[in-house]
Amino acid sequence: MKRRDFINWVGLGWIASSLPVAIAACSSVKNIGLEDWVSVGPSAELDKTGQLLAKESPVGPVLIVGTSKSGSLTAVSLTCTHAGCTVGWKTDTKKFVCPCHGSEYALDGTVKRGPAKEGLKTFAAKIEGDSVVVKLG
Ligand code: FES
Repeated sequence: MKRRDFINWVGLGWIASSLPVAIAACSSVKNIGLEDWVSVGPSAELDKTGQLLAKESPVGPVLIVGTSKSGSLTAVSLTCTHAGCTVGWKTDTKKFVCPCHGSEYALDGTVKRGPAKEGLKTFAAKIEGDSVVVKLG
């Protein structure tokens, strides 16, 4: 066998043996679409305090308020619509407050005080099994 034939033979063998691994790796990665529900945390954690902070959700930080027994959950993006700072939830006054320029939002995301003009984005949320899931989009 010539050197070139040997290299081609080894190269084809490597490709043939790697292909199934590459296909398996690609098929395990799920594309997340805007109509998908994604898990953001365990429902037990939500039930402990009535709040679940999902810092790493696909749509940025989201706060879910409610419990698995409350019937309806509220999921609100924590990204301020003024300039993108992360707002914080104030339990005592029941509003979101932005630390950057002072915008305030109600629990449903509506603006209570500017400079923000648009409300916080909200998402549908529900309990599914032992998880809290949020619908993107
Ligand atoms: S970034 Fe929130 S008020 Fe300006």
